[in-house]
Amino acid sequence: MFLSNVRLLLYGVNALCMTNLHLIDVNLCQQENTSVVDYYPPQELEKVFDFDLAENGIGRKGILETIQGMLKYSVRSWNTKFIDKLYSGTDPIGVISELVLGVLNANNHVYHVSPVTTMMEVKTSQKMAEFVGFKDGCGITCPGGSASNQLAVITARNWKFPHIKMEGFRRGEVLTMFTSAHSHYSFEKAAIMIGIGMNNLISVPCTNEGVMIPEALEKCIQESISRGESPFFVNATAGTTVLGAFDPLRPIGAICRKYDLWFHIDGSWGGAVMFSEKLRYLIDGSELADSYTINPHKMLGIPLQCSYLLTKDPDVLRKFNSLNAGYLFHGEHYDLGDGTVGCGRRPDAVKMFLAWKYNGSQGFEARVDRGFELAQYMYLKLSETSRFRMVTKPVNLNVCFWYIPESLDLSLERSNAELFSNCLAQVTKEVHGDLRRSGKFMFDYAPMHHPKPLPIFFRIITHPRLTCKDLNELIEEISKAGERLFSSFEEFEDDNVSVQSR
Ligand SMILES: *Cc1c(COP(=O)(O)O)cnc(C)c1O
Ligand SMILES: *[C@@H]1O[C@H](CO)[C@@H](O)[C@H](O)[C@H]1NC(C)=O
Ligand SMILES: *[C@@H]1O[C@H](CO)[C@@H](O)[C@H](O)[C@H]1NC(C)=O
Ligand SMILES: *[C@@H]1O[C@H](CO)[C@@H](O)[C@H](O)[C@H]1NC(C)=O
Ligand SMILES: *[C@@H]1O[C@H](CO)[C@@H](O)[C@H](O)[C@H]1NC(C)=O
Repeated sequence: MFLSNVRLLLYGVNALCMTNLHLIDVNLCQQENTSVVDYYPPQELEKVFDFDLAENGIGRKGILETIQGMLKYSVRSWNTKFIDKLYSGTDPIGVISELVLGVLNANNHVYHVSPVTTMMEVKTSQKMAEFVGFKDGCGITCPGGSASNQLAVITARNWKFPHIKMEGFRRGEVLTMFTSAHSHYSFEKAAIMIGIGMNNLISVPCTNEGVMIPEALEKCIQESISRGESPFFVNATAGTTVLGAFDPLRPIGAICRKYDLWFHIDGSWGGAVMFSEKLRYLIDGSELADSYTINPHKMLGIPLQCSYLLTKDPDVLRKFNSLNAGYLFHGEHYDLGDGTVGCGRRPDAVKMFLAWKYNGSQGFEARVDRGFELAQYMYLKLSETSRFRMVTKPVNLNVCFWYIPESLDLSLERSNAELFSNCLAQVTKEVHGDLRRSGKFMFDYAPMHHPKPLPIFFRIITHPRLTCKDLNELIEEISKAGERLFSSFEEFEDDNVSVQSR
């Protein structure tokens, strides 16, 4: 049995290597001329890739061809030019972990079916909790940052309102949660899920840099209390999704203590600064929190999915979420599934554990530091020319900016600000589409509505695997595409504020 598992593992490795895409040796994937994707829209993709599920199987040879096709038409996230999302790349140890996980098929709900992988989850959680400042804290993995955040919300609600577990809401009971206006939509989903409704997720005003204003938070809480509502949860962010902003945790923590609210930190994106001596100041005050989300599958390059909810009280998840299901949980302290809202659980912690063992905390530190340095490098490069305009100075790996083609008259900004904004948005969209279709780079753009609406802008994530050369090339490609697509602007009638690209 064991031997056949090993054979399966070797077969998997072999199959991956045979594709010539060198999944295992990531360095070979970084050939300068490999495109990020051979992009086909859905109908076209169905023509070039066989998605049919037939009566008869295709066997060994057929399946290898299918896998090769899969690699051919998929987005090559390990290509350094994939800077679209908050994740990128494929850590070699991560790939091996995935293969081992497939062979083990372990389930981290109860200890006795997953002794080793459960302990890996416990140890990685404890160590990260220590970094956050939760002295005896622990944690659990969840299927993604949204799920970690949602588990925090549910646990907090059960902590503050224990009667809800049995009775549900009482008549007239209105629960409120607070999060920054820049926060991720997972909190809105959490508000829907726990039945308090999106209107009772109160959005706290931010600065232009996307940072929550503590005085505004306190005002929102007081107003909610005076309306007769019951606040219970505050979400601060360590690294917002669009701008990368860090909320001031220490003053927010003090407010939470004053009003006896659960203090959660969403570090899905920026939470990994806990590994960096230089950057840890960004989460100063994290020890005041009750819970902390971190997604190693983002900044640390662990394969999707790998997300943790860390808690200051090591038993809080079990205390408030357990149903004492005797058929599954027999009272073993490390039956981690008991603290979740689910049952079976993939041992995602294995990937974190093995990468941590392999690289050491210092490896993670170097990685995080490098990403931050690259963002500052890119900021300096963009500042060298007047054709780029920053949305904010980067405080994270998020670099957000506009491109202003030569043909766009800067005086238009004063004479017709709305038209100027529309032009910038148009440039962003068209350049983005052009470079994505070419397969040269894949990056994203974003809108922003708070505190004031801004035209759509480029959002580049300076993943640690990038080089300065890649970033120079990206800047060059954006300028070239911008000039080519917008060699002149045509303005329409006054009431038509769109622009046309040519
Ligand atoms: C990515 C992200 C999430 C969601 O994480 P998933 O793993 O995609 O569910 C939540 N909050 C922030 C700030 C994020 O950047
Ligand atoms: C990349 O360059 C190498 C060497 O110049 C060449 O052999 C290969 O075909 C190129 N690949 C692509 C995808 O263009
Ligand atoms: C907290 O804010 C972050 C980022 O702003 C967001 O991603 C997350 O979904 C929010 N969580 C909750 C529970 O509101
Ligand atoms: C671990 O170290 C290797 C080799 O230095 C590096 O390629 C990889 O990115 C590191 N992984 C993480 C998760 O830091
Ligand atoms: C502006 O003009 C263009 C070209 O004539 C037209 O396609 C578009 O619908 C107009 N937009 C608005 C908002 O009127």
